[in-house]
Amino acid sequence: MSEAPRSDLIETLVSLAKQRGFVYPSSEIYGGINALYDFGPLGTRLRRNIRNRWWRAMVELRDDIEPIETSIIMNPQVWVASGHVGGFSDPLVDCTGTCRKRWREDHLAAERTERGKDPEVRACPECDGPLGEPRQFNLMFRTFLGPVEEAAATVYLRPETAQGMFVNFQNVVNSTRRRLPFGIAQNGRSFRNEISPGNYIFRLREFEQMEMEYFCEPGTDDGLFEYWCAERHRWYIEDLGVRTVNLRLRPHEKDELAHYAKAANDVEYLFPFGWSELEGIANRTDFDLSAHQKHSGRDLSFYDQAANRRFVPYVIEPAAGVDRIFITLLCDAYDEEEVRGETRVVLRLHPDVAPFQVAVLPLSKKPELSELARSVEHDLRSRFATEYDETQSIGRRYRRQDEIGTPLAVTIDFDSLEDRAATIRERDGMTQVRVPLEGLPAALGEQLDACRARALDRAQGS
Ligand code: GAP
Repeated sequence: MSEAPRSDLIETLVSLAKQRGFVYPSSEIYGGINALYDFGPLGTRLRRNIRNRWWRAMVELRDDIEPIETSIIMNPQVWVASGHVGGFSDPLVDCTGTCRKRWREDHLAAERTERGKDPEVRACPECDGPLGEPRQFNLMFRTFLGPVEEAAATVYLRPETAQGMFVNFQNVVNSTRRRLPFGIAQNGRSFRNEISPGNYIFRLREFEQMEMEYFCEPGTDDGLFEYWCAERHRWYIEDLGVRTVNLRLRPHEKDELAHYAKAANDVEYLFPFGWSELEGIANRTDFDLSAHQKHSGRDLSFYDQAANRRFVPYVIEPAAGVDRIFITLLCDAYDEEEVRGETRVVLRLHPDVAPFQVAVLPLSKKPELSELARSVEHDLRSRFATEYDETQSIGRRYRRQDEIGTPLAVTIDFDSLEDRAATIRERDGMTQVRVPLEGLPAALGEQLDACRARALDRAQGS
């Protein structure tokens, strides 16, 4: 059974994320800008950790995947060949009643349901006014290359990182002498002029993707598709600590499949606004390489020496979004509990994604305690992601660390000056142990391993 998420959770998270420095509205002092956000000191750390976990699983721990970084603006022919210029569009409808809002035709029913209105009625979700005829709206942002703003100079901000991998397929084969199957992975910003962005940072106009194209021999694609679906589902549970009950793999219906896909599964999370996509895994067949081969006139086939055979490889693509994983981790980790008559807010983040792993807290601001605590924190920095905090009472500082998900806190008190020992407090159970300062790094390492094991238990629901 999935856990029913709190309906007000997103509002709670928006406030916590702003207050603690995870997420700020972009250009806020000018009133913000729709569906664009900035990430504060803690959000930046959390995002980096998400990317690092992906990079570790998809590149560092594997011997069959090469990384790449390609430009955001590419030759516009790339987007003609890929089908984005002709078909990367959503159906747009205008309200011709009082509010004049614009909607995605295929989101009308959901938007009306969200506002408590009959989804069967074709009318404006906001003001119930009549709607115009749908027209196709291309989601790519356009700009001009060079000083002249003319059609011939039109270029696009990439709407996905994937095409950078396809157009470099032959370069990577030639420079690495890779044999099939192998993958090319890339992480970077993408841009879509979404008609109905929203749900906080779920649907943005500028977002970050982590994509991998796994090139393989036709005929081996079905098995590899199954493998990558299972592997990507596993990653969320074991590497990020997302709870299994709130995750599912949903196969696409035939009429939902993208034009390039033979099969696709979404990894979905149960958000307060319903099950929604975190990552798509698609069998893209030879669609992209064949399209670029045709359009560019360059040979993008692969020569299999052993079989003395030349063919255009098939591709399995797991494509994830950093921002969606970010909001998932906040939703999944957020917890409230009663402690001595007060509500304690805890972000039960996996220790490898939490912005900080260890907070060092002197009991008071007395110079002799600060000095010792600062030197302890300095020594721990090379091994752990640490924070030093000496503001406010120790109780409030523990609460703040709980709220930002720091799994361990080290408290330096007056006894520490005498016994050269400190107290380690653990976030989830609030248990405390006293350890000698010289054994602190090893003790913290062991405690973090215990936190990792608990995160896995929590994710697996045991
Ligand atoms: N190359 C395939 C591709 O781009 P997609 O399903 O359109 O597939 C992959 O995007 C992932 O990128 C999504 O699962 C989601 O995590 C993220 N993503 C896509 N559009 C987004 C948006 N407007 N805002 C935030 N994340 C988005």
